[in-house]
Amino acid sequence: MKMILWVALLMSHCCLGLNGAAAESRGLETIQKCGTRCSRGLHCTTKPDSLFSPPCQNPPEGLNTSSVFHNISLSTVMRCEGRQQCSLHLRIKTQLQLTEAIHGVSICTVTAGMMANCRILGFKRSSRERMSGQQVEVENDCTDISVSQRSQVIVKTVPNYCGVTWTDTYQAPAGRLSYDVNSETNELNVSVSDMLEDHNYHLRLCLKHFICAGTGANKLIKKEEPVKSAILPYSRPLPCLCIEGWSTVMDAPRVQVCPFKDRLEELWFGINFDPMEGTLSWEPTCPVRAVVALCQKREDGVCVDLPHASQNISRKKITFSQVDPHSQLCMKFTADSKSWTRCPFADAKFQAWEVVVTKKEGHEDVTMSSQINATFSVGLCVKSEESSECRVTKTHIMHVEKHKSVGLKLAEELCSSCLQVKRT
Ligand SMILES: *[C@@H]1O[C@H](CO)[C@@H](O)[C@H](O)[C@H]1NC(C)=O
Ligand SMILES: *[C@@H]1O[C@H](CO)[C@@H](O)[C@H](O)[C@H]1NC(C)=O
Ligand SMILES: *[C@@H]1O[C@H](CO)[C@@H](O)[C@H](O)[C@H]1NC(C)=O
Ligand SMILES: *[C@@H]1O[C@H](CO)[C@@H](O)[C@H](O)[C@H]1NC(C)=O
Ligand SMILES: *[C@@H]1O[C@H](CO)[C@@H](O)[C@H](O)[C@H]1NC(C)=O
Repeated sequence: MKMILWVALLMSHCCLGLNGAAAESRGLETIQKCGTRCSRGLHCTTKPDSLFSPPCQNPPEGLNTSSVFHNISLSTVMRCEGRQQCSLHLRIKTQLQLTEAIHGVSICTVTAGMMANCRILGFKRSSRERMSGQQVEVENDCTDISVSQRSQVIVKTVPNYCGVTWTDTYQAPAGRLSYDVNSETNELNVSVSDMLEDHNYHLRLCLKHFICAGTGANKLIKKEEPVKSAILPYSRPLPCLCIEGWSTVMDAPRVQVCPFKDRLEELWFGINFDPMEGTLSWEPTCPVRAVVALCQKREDGVCVDLPHASQNISRKKITFSQVDPHSQLCMKFTADSKSWTRCPFADAKFQAWEVVVTKKEGHEDVTMSSQINATFSVGLCVKSEESSECRVTKTHIMHVEKHKSVGLKLAEELCSSCLQVKRT
């Protein structure tokens, strides 16, 4: 019985190279049973070990410590019992230079928050004496790992010879996401690789604050589907918009990529003005460290900060009260030593009041209309060559009722002077 099992193991070992290579291009290799496999002729045993082995001993003379371990490779295989019951296993493959002084190898896998998993793969005396001096291969794939788990792997000789320890960290795959952006149709074509082939895979878009909250776009890639990709539509390329992917395995961690994380400028939208209250407000859609200030746009395009009108952005809505809207009043957003200016009143959308000047023979007619009852001061001002400031020479006061326009006849012509209208 033992003999037959051994042959079966040898057979599976002999063909592994081929199977492994073929499986690599498709994804993870699938196994039915985990076990230890050793080079032909080397008889191995497996027994548990402890992470705390006795202190290392000096290697015997003639043992070249730097050439014992030739090549140690770590990979993930999937062990499936039945079609739907699969688990991930870490496969550790060690190539070593066998000498009579080496009785086996000890392999430990250490994962944060979990018990260390250690085992000794021992070589039967007769076979290790016979094969001394040869390069042999030892492989074990009985260590359970979970999707995207990070582990440290420590391989030592038995007995534990000083200076022959090999360590490495390994991260199990959890699916890798890649994407193409179609900015004309606002769609992301998301492709998944390195996923568990026998499980469905979820993809969704979410907005990342403390948690990533779903935005509605949600797709399931069925395990039968040959092309592991899906189209996810988005409405705006926000910096906190992320793609999340996860296998339908219990407790599978989620992989996240945020394609637009540098697109800060996309945040400065949705400025609102309430003409009744005179409040200008804006709410951040993504968490951002920035300062918002009110500013007045000059003719040269520079927006000059208004005094005492700057606020740090927190998670909450930003509100400026007692705002008198006019087309040059803008909001300046400053983040990462860069500034963006948005002028909500540049188009007539939020205009609370309006001035129309029409020329009649010898005089000008000023017509004021307002969405609320308000009083305006209409000043005649003159620009001199010395100063860019407009010097007010004469002021009229106008009371304007809601939705009723009021006219004012100016005796003067406005060729060298301007009108300066303010809501008082
Ligand atoms: C030990 O092995 C290394 C790597 O194979 C080799 O470069 C070195 O010369 C060897 N040292 C001795 C003393 O044989
Ligand atoms: C080490 O072993 C792995 C797996 O057997 C192989 O892909 C890799 O090429 C080997 N590396 C070297 C340096 O021999
Ligand atoms: C999405 O990307 C995948 C992989 O690059 C490709 O096979 C597929 O045709 C793409 N789908 C669309 C709709 O462009
Ligand atoms: C914004 O925060 C910075 C740093 O915390 C602080 O120095 C500054 O006074 C704050 N500005 C406003 C307008 O609150
Ligand atoms: C605006 O003024 C008119 C006339 O003085 C008054 O009847 C009306 O109630 C006022 N409307 C508001 C919203 O204050």
